[in-house]
Amino acid sequence: METTVKRIILGITGGIAAYKAVELARLLVKRGLDVQGVMTAAAGHFVGAATFQAITGQPVYSDLWDARTANGMAHIDLSRAADLVLVAPASADFLAKLAQGRADDLLSTLCLARDCPLLVAPAMNRQMWENPATRRNVKQLADDCIVLLGPTSGAQACGETGYGRMLEPEAIIEAIDAFFQPKTLKGLKLLITAGPSYEAIDAVRGITNRSSGKMGYAVARAALEAGAQVTLISGPTGLTPPAAAQLVNVTSAQQMLAAVEARTDEADIFIAVAAVADYYVLNPSENKIKKDAHILTLELAPNPDILANVTRMDKPPFCVGFAAESENMEEYAELKRKRKHLPLIVANDANAAIGSDEVELILLDDDGRHVLERANKLTQARRLIGHIAKLYNARYQ
Ligand code: CTP
Repeated sequence: METTVKRIILGITGGIAAYKAVELARLLVKRGLDVQGVMTAAAGHFVGAATFQAITGQPVYSDLWDARTANGMAHIDLSRAADLVLVAPASADFLAKLAQGRADDLLSTLCLARDCPLLVAPAMNRQMWENPATRRNVKQLADDCIVLLGPTSGAQACGETGYGRMLEPEAIIEAIDAFFQPKTLKGLKLLITAGPSYEAIDAVRGITNRSSGKMGYAVARAALEAGAQVTLISGPTGLTPPAAAQLVNVTSAQQMLAAVEARTDEADIFIAVAAVADYYVLNPSENKIKKDAHILTLELAPNPDILANVTRMDKPPFCVGFAAESENMEEYAELKRKRKHLPLIVANDANAAIGSDEVELILLDDDGRHVLERANKLTQARRLIGHIAKLYNARYQ
């Protein structure tokens, strides 16, 4: 986990999703965290304390009157030692307790006594989640700066389908990572292009490229984590966009340009990650072209350069470009940076980056080169966003 969190209290309340808390505990321990399990009495109906103790290597607490801690006040001793309290699953009853500030068992009492962030992953039947009482409680928790992770929608243990499913353990860990990212772009508006463009040849065929969109989507996610408002203008990808981004789907380069131009005025930062086709097909056929021609000639005309159009504006946002190169990477990327008047360009190896989950990036700016050692795209996107925030703040704040 890329945070300063070291010691975490994992609270488990009564719900069938408690079995997933076992896997969650395992993943947290695997990431090097010191995990202290605290169970409610109801949780004991679903999972055993021995399971958590075996996985975390620490005795599990559940009794408010447990005298094993240093001064015999488990609720104070445990919460003071923690950097984070995570309750997963958090039942409807537990959310109600938190909303009211009640303290009638160890977990609710230590939540009230804590001096660190509290994150809860609700899990309940969809009707319980939608009940006005739960809605009211959830609003109260948000007002009290208690962070809700999920729930998500899907099949439920009761056989119904809807919102109320606890996030999967991996997703909970990702959400914790996101929560602890520094809010370096708070209050800023970001415009990001991602994915390939697709230039139609006929009704069913087109010219595109192998960009997966993963890097652009990771940059959007990292920007959201850093506190920015994000508009993601995406060519066709099979990816799920981050829920908090405003997504604008486009197909061709010209559509992407129109979508960007309509939004640049209000953007503070523009990051062009999209792999835009340099040419489009003049007069694409409305119908499918039949294979009756011996030689088929396509007439191609140059597409607008979206990024260059933006940097040419009177008052452009802070612009960042990407350069995927298959040779002379840094030299070509620097030439692009100069040609497009960019304060920052991100160079990567075109052959290695496409479709891959791990990349090395080289950032080129007025101060020279900064190597971002090979890592997964989200990690790289977070590092890139940190670098952009530094340059942006130096220039405007
Ligand atoms: N870009 C853009 N609009 C285009 C082409 C590229 O906004 N029509 C942006 C990309 O999103 C990326 C950068 O410009 O940020 C890439 O620069 P470019 O010189 O166009 O890259 P290539 O098309 O790969 O150029 P070349 O084929 O010359 O290497």
